[in-house]
Amino acid sequence: MHVLVAGGTGFIGGHVVEELTNGGTHRVTIMTRDPDRARRRAGVEYVRGDISDPSSLAEATREVEVVVHCVQFPNHPVENPARGWTYEKVDGEGTERMVAACRANGVRRFVYLSGAGARPGRSEPWFKAKERAERAVMTSGMEYVIVRPSWIYGPEDRSLNKFVAFVKYLPVVPVIGSGQEKVQPISVFDVAKVVAAAVDNPAATNQVFELGSRDPLTMDEILGTLQKVLGKHRRLVHQPAWLVKIPASVIQYLPNAPLSPGAIDFITMDERVDPSPAERAFGVTFTPLEAGLRHYLRA
Ligand SMILES: NC(=O)c1ccc[n+]([C@@H]2O[C@H](COP(=O)([O-])OP(=O)(O)OC[C@H]3O[C@@H](n4cnc5c(N)ncnc54)[C@H](OP(=O)(O)O)[C@@H]3O)[C@@H](O)[C@H]2O)c1
Repeated sequence: MHVLVAGGTGFIGGHVVEELTNGGTHRVTIMTRDPDRARRRAGVEYVRGDISDPSSLAEATREVEVVVHCVQFPNHPVENPARGWTYEKVDGEGTERMVAACRANGVRRFVYLSGAGARPGRSEPWFKAKERAERAVMTSGMEYVIVRPSWIYGPEDRSLNKFVAFVKYLPVVPVIGSGQEKVQPISVFDVAKVVAAAVDNPAATNQVFELGSRDPLTMDEILGTLQKVLGKHRRLVHQPAWLVKIPASVIQYLPNAPLSPGAIDFITMDERVDPSPAERAFGVTFTPLEAGLRHYLRA
């Protein structure tokens, strides 16, 4: 089967490509804005494609049977409207363009990386854009599988790994918000297994799956687990979100700004998922956080 992974140079897409090529049964092509700059992987083809450029998508999706769509704007979750790096442009409009190109080229199946909490009626910009994208996918006439993962961690992630560095090298660990928001962090290896299987699992056709570890954990509990795995003990220093938004509202205009008020809302969300239907459909048990952290931090 010829599978195109849009966003295959990224964190999740990279692990999906790894999983798809391990099986050895698929022809895998990575779609990237710049094939010349992409890190080369053996046995994988590369094609140029930019979700803001419909003609590139028409070319990239030719003779493809399945598309896995895991595109995100650079420096997420800090939006940069001047460069078109926003939820609406990339998750919303970009996915609609990709779906249109796939339909025109007769792509059979579309696997979409949405996010935990996406559903109709949400007001946050990231949920509105994901909902728009999901609607485009569901009404496309193609077979589809949509996954809505909670917070994904693993090698090369750009969020939990910041805390790994804080715990290793700082005397205290700064935490934005109360530390009481609950999420269900999931290993990128588990997400990649499910997404790669979704490419041809008939039981997953036209289904939406939430992905996450079983137990909702507060941010403080997650950092406690991380410290245990790293064998360190650091005091957590909580900063009220409203207070951090004051400097963030200024620094958001810097190139590659580390924070913005919207990004603070995004990272302090409390979102629960029910992973049981995904575990049943794919015959997996998602790794608990401590085991997942030990697996990749030891390696
Ligand atoms: N990370 C998480 O915890 C998490 C949790 C839930 C859901 N998700 C979802 O998973 C998806 C992937 O996230 P990620 O963390 O893997 O993102 P990422 O590491 O930032 O990768 C983003 C990918 O998007 C591509 N891209 C960026 N702009 C593009 C454009 N204009 N046209 C075509 N491709 C473009 C990049 O490719 P090039 O730079 O090579 O063009 C890159 O491969 C997103 O939809 C995200 O919402 C992530």
